[in-house]
Amino acid sequence: MIITIDGPAGTGKSTVAKNLAEDLGYTYFETGAMYRAITYAIIKYKVDYNDKTALKAFLDSHPVTIRTRFNDKYYIVGDEDVTGYIRSKEVTDLVSAISAIGDVRETLVTSQRELAKGVNAVFEGRDMGTVVFPDADVKIFLTASSEVRAKRRYNELIAKNPSLTITLDEVLQDINRRDAYDASRDISPMRPADDAIIIDTSTLSADEVENSIINITKEVEDRPLTNQ
Ligand code: DC
Repeated sequence: MIITIDGPAGTGKSTVAKNLAEDLGYTYFETGAMYRAITYAIIKYKVDYNDKTALKAFLDSHPVTIRTRFNDKYYIVGDEDVTGYIRSKEVTDLVSAISAIGDVRETLVTSQRELAKGVNAVFEGRDMGTVVFPDADVKIFLTASSEVRAKRRYNELIAKNPSLTITLDEVLQDINRRDAYDASRDISPMRPADDAIIIDTSTLSADEVENSIINITKEVEDRPLTNQ
């Protein structure tokens, strides 16, 4: 069974997807981290991503893989563990542009479909329900007002790094910029699949969101199997 959870940053997607996978005993995949991992490697190796041939050669020789140790996931590009670098500001600033490139998406979508083979999994991202797993059993799209999303993201950033000098307004602008980019790109723009269930998380706790997804999942599990 595949559950997809899509939506913009700050909707609680990662927390909900992670807890849901843990409680259901499913494998959790955060596909944004894969886009971040390749973006970091492109920056580090100064790949000219406007040069299609150079980029393609880099992507072919530097596959993004995920290793799990205990409950932690490690993101490997080529043979290098880049996990510690993928949440940096440098990466966050460039990841939307890199994830709008067709060859990057094609490469990562192929890996994501490989990861889904033979497992029960929760896949979290932007195009999981629309492009990567159009036949997923449960498709969820989370939304929330941009103010609520900025506040959540701000609290998260400050909790991780209390000495960070960033204002709520800067976080809001960054969220709006990335969402506009992700939703308006030509290839696989962020949008709910036609058959996705949309949940507005503005006034809900992570547990409340998770519980509604569990109820939706149970309903799907209880449906009789068909030959289709
Ligand atoms: O979830 P996140 O904020 O870590 O994602 C980082 C970026 O990756 C985000 O700007 C959009 C992009 N992304 C994407 O294009 N497709 C996905 N399936 C997941 C993320």
